[in-house]
Amino acid sequence: MITTRFCQLSWSVMLCFSLVQGASAAPSPVSYGVETDTFHPVKEQHGMVASVDALATQVGVDILKQGGNAVDAAVAVGFALAVTHPQAGNLGGGGFMMLRTASGRTTAIDFREMAPARASRDMFLDANGNADSKRSLTSHLATGTPGSVAGFALAAQKYGTLPLSRLLAPAIKLARDGFVVNEALADDLNTYGKEVLLAHPNSKAIFFKADGAPYQKGEKLVQKNLAHSLSLIAKQGPDAFYKGAIADQIASEMAANGGLIGKADLAAYRAVERKPVSGSYRGYEVFSMPPPSSGGIHIVQILNILENFDLAKMGFGSADAIQVVAEAEKYAYADRSEYLGDPDFVKVPVQALTSKAYAKSLAQQIDLAKVRPSSEIKPGKLAPYESNQTTHFSVVDSKGNAVAVTYTLNTNFGSGIVAGNSGILMNNEMDDFSAKPGTPNVYGLVGGEANAVQPAKRPLSSMSPTIVAKDGKTWLVTGSPGGSRIITTVLQMVVNSIDFGMNVAEATAAPRFHHQWLPDQLRVEKGFSPDTLRLLETKGQHVKVQPAMGSTQSIMIGPDGMLYGASDPRTVDDLTAGY
Ligand code: DON
Repeated sequence: MITTRFCQLSWSVMLCFSLVQGASAAPSPVSYGVETDTFHPVKEQHGMVASVDALATQVGVDILKQGGNAVDAAVAVGFALAVTHPQAGNLGGGGFMMLRTASGRTTAIDFREMAPARASRDMFLDANGNADSKRSLTSHLATGTPGSVAGFALAAQKYGTLPLSRLLAPAIKLARDGFVVNEALADDLNTYGKEVLLAHPNSKAIFFKADGAPYQKGEKLVQKNLAHSLSLIAKQGPDAFYKGAIADQIASEMAANGGLIGKADLAAYRAVERKPVSGSYRGYEVFSMPPPSSGGIHIVQILNILENFDLAKMGFGSADAIQVVAEAEKYAYADRSEYLGDPDFVKVPVQALTSKAYAKSLAQQIDLAKVRPSSEIKPGKLAPYESNQTTHFSVVDSKGNAVAVTYTLNTNFGSGIVAGNSGILMNNEMDDFSAKPGTPNVYGLVGGEANAVQPAKRPLSSMSPTIVAKDGKTWLVTGSPGGSRIITTVLQMVVNSIDFGMNVAEATAAPRFHHQWLPDQLRVEKGFSPDTLRLLETKGQHVKVQPAMGSTQSIMIGPDGMLYGASDPRTVDDLTAGY
């Protein structure tokens, strides 16, 4: 927290530093020294966890100290966040895990939600054929068959060293004995929570007190039903969730309220292992999430485009560097809307989209002096929306195994619906499908046929847990929430580290920007020079200063073998810690 406040007060100092960095012709080496750095990472020797919640981080560090590996710790953090960070941590949602072992093997575990068997293409259209976001966000139809429990169980069984029950124990304790509500949760309950949880008696009974007010900072939140569900999983394994008593709760909740998930959907759910998308960038190797995430493909695609420009020479925060990155982003998001979907249903041209030759052809269309309007790339219209929930955590253990997990309920507290007496909040991930071609979802993303609703299909995601290696060794482990902005946030972590020579804390704190093709708008955080923004407008960018984006939780391994970590100063109550 002290770091957080310091960072926010220090934009101008940091910007100064960054501009000086950018003046050199070649990328500067990342500096880890106390005297030379503006922002300082957490530094530890043996193992480290960076997550959005201090209690969950502590759970992970304890597992590492007890001899668990990075996968064990990540699974324990994932279960703990389902208790302490109900805005996004979950059993009723889904996500992705990227793993790079100490020996250099990489793999990706896909535990994204799936559309139920009775889902259909036009299920989110109203009588007039218009997309109805209420249905896809807050009704029982909004929920896809959850994947988190299957994903964590698969990861633990295949790559962990400790029994699942041991990894669940800290979460059970936090749910059964309660934990002290922090500022982040109290704030979110008071805003988003009131909007989505109050409508459902099961949810209200958990997160609101007898007097009707949400739990406040400093008060203890006990979740007895959730503790019971977690204990069932500890005793019976994932079958408790997919075939047993929890499955019964979810199926009857859905049946009684017009939802579509039945027991057969739950029994059929599988987490799957996939080959990560990989690419190279200025001599570094990048591994990120393949479809059904769009993140890996578009991070690699944008990096490939950027390789054609000397960003280090342009300098961090310069109008030229921002122009190049923003224009590259537009091409990537345009492709996203057309080609990306669940690879089990559509053929996603991964090779073509991530090829250096294709990137070069796009780079040649980028004009440093003049914007190409999005309308000339592809038309569309969009809805504005703000939400910031999904959560990412990174873990590195003493052997050098690295894990990056991003998982979510989609928007804050998901659909707001707790399934029966399970204590489990259900996702509203069905909104990530394209309800109608060309109609934006909650993040303003448009899509088409490739991401249309189909039974048993996984909605397209932007979640991008990412691992960068240098000279064959893991170097950076990172990821973020932020809906459509996840891809560009993770991209900037990579570019800030490699091109601008920032350490992991500086790369995290540096102001961010984002262009997603539609709307044709360059979204920037506070902290860029007004001169720069004016220059960008002269080039034709429609600049809009908007609230902070992303909440990265990252770990970098230094040349000295030490672990350097940083939680995002944009987030309160997050923590990076190790031993
Ligand atoms: O999978 C996706 O891309 C979205 N459901 C992620 C949602 C998210 O990041 C919300 N937080 N801003």
